[in-house]
Amino acid sequence: MTSVLGFGGYVPERVMTNADWAEVVDTTDEWITTRTGIKERRFAADDQSTLDLAEEAALVAMKDAGLGPDEIDEIIVATDTPEVYTPDTASLMQDRLGCRNIPTYDLGGSGCAGWIQAIDVARSRIAFEPKRVLVVGVELISRLISWEDRTTAVLFGDGAGAVVMAREGGKAELVDVISGTDGSKADILTLQTGGTRHPFTVESAAAGDHQRLDMDGQAVFREAVRRMSSVTLELLERIGKGIEDVDLLVPHQANKRIIDAVGHKLGIDEDRVFINVDRYGNTGSATVPLGLWEAHAGGQIRDGDLVMLTAFGAGFHWASAALQF
Ligand code: UT7
Repeated sequence: MTSVLGFGGYVPERVMTNADWAEVVDTTDEWITTRTGIKERRFAADDQSTLDLAEEAALVAMKDAGLGPDEIDEIIVATDTPEVYTPDTASLMQDRLGCRNIPTYDLGGSGCAGWIQAIDVARSRIAFEPKRVLVVGVELISRLISWEDRTTAVLFGDGAGAVVMAREGGKAELVDVISGTDGSKADILTLQTGGTRHPFTVESAAAGDHQRLDMDGQAVFREAVRRMSSVTLELLERIGKGIEDVDLLVPHQANKRIIDAVGHKLGIDEDRVFINVDRYGNTGSATVPLGLWEAHAGGQIRDGDLVMLTAFGAGFHWASAALQF
């Protein structure tokens, strides 16, 4: 058995509203609200970096679990916006939190489904050895998007979420996880910043390639709806449950219209679907753990509840997890 001992989350204080974006690019509150459901998002302060956001969420999760840094046995960080290129954000976390010399690693570049994939990895590590694993999803994407590209810039926000997992006890059991990948669709959502295919040159940096997220929005939309709904149904079937048994669905928060379409396909009532995309926008691999933390801390999840998580993102990856509280 794998359980979750504690939940954590963090969003920076600075609020960037749709009206604020309308002063920067050619957009309106009306367009952003009707096409995405986003009203505002949080952006990190100039002196904050990915590690700061991750640390805040981790500390909340560790406190919720009643554990100190010396009681964490492994750290996994899912992120597309790491602190630096090398080493991974997880190794910097080990030092920042004051943990022992434990194994740590990133699931880097795995897009918005990365955190659910990371809890699946943690599950197998815990099955192998009775460890307490800190699993963080974090993005500071405001620093990597183009502030001139209205088609992507307005969608994203910064934030972090975390859990501490262990073999037993705790607040919820991680019943099962399913994830999948279709690499043939890798090009519908990419951030090629500084990779070996397009290493930086003075010219490419001057052209803004260090802040360029390429996205075929409509293709991502279609795949997101298809994959998040099908993987959730596949997982429910595997654990012998139906949609009527689900007390709360915490889906990846990219666009309210995507979430509504997934809810419609699954046949689940709106009041059983968690939403915070209106307040935070798309925080990448942080959306699911951040939503889970908010839902749990805010009393939207009670003992005995079955909570389904689902996400999709660059890769193209998708995943679903079932948590029994
Ligand atoms: O974690 C995964 C991250 N990505 C996603 O989840 C994205 C999934 N896709 C989507 O959410 C939607 O496709 C978008 C929100 C990105 C776009 O919505 P859409 O309904 O698919 O709009 P569209 O791309 O068809 O664009 C419609 C119009 C275009 O103008 P024309 O060609 O019709 O004149 C765009 O240029 O809206 C224009 N547009 C904007 N207008 C005002 C695009 N972005 C904006 C903007 N403000 N910010």
